[in-house]
Amino acid sequence: MQTRLQQMKEHALDKLKHVAEAQELQELRVKFLGKKGELTEILRGMGALSAEERPKIGQLVNEVREAIEETIASKQNEIEKRILEAKLAKQTIDVTLPGLPVATGTMHPLTRIIEELEDIFIGLGFEVAEGPEVELDHYNFEMLNLPKDHPARDMQDSFYITEEILLRTQTSPVQARTMLKKEGKTPVKIICPGKVYRRDDDDATHSHQFTQMEGLVVGKNISMSDLKGTLLTFARQMFGEDQQIRLRPSFFPFTEPSVEVDLQCVICHGEGCRVCKQTGWIEILGAGMVHPRVLEMAGYNPQEVSGFAFGMGIERIAMLKYGVEDIRHFYTNDVRFLRQFNRS
Ligand code: DAH
Repeated sequence: MQTRLQQMKEHALDKLKHVAEAQELQELRVKFLGKKGELTEILRGMGALSAEERPKIGQLVNEVREAIEETIASKQNEIEKRILEAKLAKQTIDVTLPGLPVATGTMHPLTRIIEELEDIFIGLGFEVAEGPEVELDHYNFEMLNLPKDHPARDMQDSFYITEEILLRTQTSPVQARTMLKKEGKTPVKIICPGKVYRRDDDDATHSHQFTQMEGLVVGKNISMSDLKGTLLTFARQMFGEDQQIRLRPSFFPFTEPSVEVDLQCVICHGEGCRVCKQTGWIEILGAGMVHPRVLEMAGYNPQEVSGFAFGMGIERIAMLKYGVEDIRHFYTNDVRFLRQFNRS
């Protein structure tokens, strides 16, 4: 029996050595170790053995089984490895091929201008404030000294939601909101960029929704020269160091005196051209000294403090800076337009 086992082992190991396919390996496993396999067959004869011989043979049987199992396992590994290698060899990747382009967006020109404005004004010590786009008539008009019969309060000009609620027509209500929040404390020094809405018909220079940036400074001894210096600094940082500005008397209900501020034409530098209608100047914003009534309503004593305010259209700044001729380009999301404002 011992010899039989020994022979069977040698025969099995020899057979297994030459196996190349998984299928064949499986067949041999059944043949040698399976329920009806050779080893089971030999084991059947165990009953005829003497009590002394039985454990010896039993041990030998186990050794033979282990040897065969180990050989099968290592063969199995070998075959699997070979299959994997063959697969990898077939699937070689050409690392020199160009990859798929990663589509990155570009910053919207209006966002870019807003960020630039914020950088300029933060550099001058301003903070960025926010206010709601759905605004109360109270803040949008009343607190800004716009009387009930003011034409801007007409249903024809503003998007009213109810009698008391509308889409803000300007960023100026943030002036009142900020001052109220500050509860009479100074200094107040804020800018507020944001969307505003008016019942305009859209054309090359008008849009029912556009973007403004409000500015407000309140403190002791704030004067018109502070306003002028601040705006000149802004104009030069935004449009170049040789920029000039011009202040013209104007009227706004929430400032007294009020001015309109012109920028020397960025196209012709004052020579006169189509863009500036031959005047050499382009109007860019409204401003003035905060009206005493406005200060008072927002909890400040106009005898003790004064302030200046300004409001500009962001689209106008962007159109001048980037030479955009139609305001509608900013909203129609034509990627050919937008891609020109890549950050690099
Ligand atoms: N809110 C004004 C507008 O929409 C712009 C403006 C003018 C804002 C004068 C101001 C200001 O703060 O002082 O036309």
